[in-house]
Amino acid sequence: MATKVVVGLPDGTEYDVRIGAGLLDKLGESLVAAGIIASGTRMLVITDTNVGPLYLARAKASLAAVGARVSEITVPAGEETKSVEVANEIWEAMARLSLGRDCVVVALGGGVVGDLAGFVAATYMRGVPVVQVPTTLLAMVDSSVGGKTAVNLPEGKNLVGAFHQPAYVCADTDTLASLDEREWKCGCGEIAKCATIDGDDFFFWLSGEAAALAQRDADVVVEAIARCVVFKANVVAQDVTERAGVRECLNYGHTLGHAIEAEAGFGTFSHGAAVAEGMRFAAQLARELVGASDDFTEAQGQLLDDLGLYPLAWQAPADDLLAAMKRDKKTRGGVVRFVLASDVGAWQTVSVDDETILRHLGQWRASKGA
Ligand SMILES: NC(=O)c1ccc[n+]([C@@H]2O[C@H](COP(=O)([O-])OP(=O)(O)OC[C@H]3O[C@@H](n4cnc5c(N)ncnc54)[C@H](O)[C@@H]3O)[C@@H](O)[C@H]2O)c1
Repeated sequence: MATKVVVGLPDGTEYDVRIGAGLLDKLGESLVAAGIIASGTRMLVITDTNVGPLYLARAKASLAAVGARVSEITVPAGEETKSVEVANEIWEAMARLSLGRDCVVVALGGGVVGDLAGFVAATYMRGVPVVQVPTTLLAMVDSSVGGKTAVNLPEGKNLVGAFHQPAYVCADTDTLASLDEREWKCGCGEIAKCATIDGDDFFFWLSGEAAALAQRDADVVVEAIARCVVFKANVVAQDVTERAGVRECLNYGHTLGHAIEAEAGFGTFSHGAAVAEGMRFAAQLARELVGASDDFTEAQGQLLDDLGLYPLAWQAPADDLLAAMKRDKKTRGGVVRFVLASDVGAWQTVSVDDETILRHLGQWRASKGA
């Protein structure tokens, strides 16, 4: 099964997101058909040390088969690679290769490669096209679509970046076969988030297919990715540069999720597992603050369980988690803001006072036996 989602932007531009098995071998012909490259186009494929050995040769062969002139850069796998220093190495390599404004960058990898390559493409010669070829579930459902690109600073994640929409997204679901369980569940956390915020249709479909998704059923995987991309495309179309407030919904589960990642140490839990915990906490808050029902809280909890995203066997002092939330760049004026859902598809952003957060964190810790 293969499918296509078109992401339309308010300025009238649009790009295709192709999702399906075996698409990597057709990358070259797809980009020619989409008018993005032609015979002779200079291309730079950026990948990482885990993905390169698995998929770079196939990507290059597919591009070379249509006459593209392909260079490559392999960066170390891992979040540390999303840095100004690595971006600079790539800019300099591009200059040494005499790549001009007519070159096309290909990001072959997970969200780290996607964000880094997207940022390099956004800035090299004031912007060259980037094609996203996501190879993690998280990158397929989230980071490859929407145009956010960034590198990290020692002071925080994603502090330097640009909005730069991809020219094309090619999500070959066969590449997910080599993804380990932790990264799989990471993507499942973001899928659960999308479904909960999107509405009944997605949420109840996913609830019915959660076990199949956890077992990586091929058709269910394609449909889950496509539904997430449609959801994200709609959000992005309404709020391209995150100024209209609509894009805030993508932060569901992330307020506590980011704090957990920071306090536990980045990498201790996958991002998706931390987001899932944040969704459970948001539902607990939503019962008091926006009238969420027990039915909603239980349905969301069941969905996360069925995806293998169980409550974390971890807790930290409430004061430390609150302080971490306040350091988050989405906090405004020292007041922590949560995306809360009163029901499936019914979300709002709520500023929550410290006393309420600490009280709920106390309950959350008690549920962990603290
Ligand atoms: N731009 C956005 O809108 C957006 C949204 C969400 C997350 N992000 C960013 O995405 C990044 C996280 O992305 P991620 O979770 O994909 O992490 P990642 O890119 O680090 O990939 C996770 C690990 O899986 C490996 N890997 C990738 N594909 C593989 C495959 N097919 N088989 C085997 N191993 C593979 C990678 O080498 C890495 O070790 C973060 O930097 C985050 O800030 C960006």
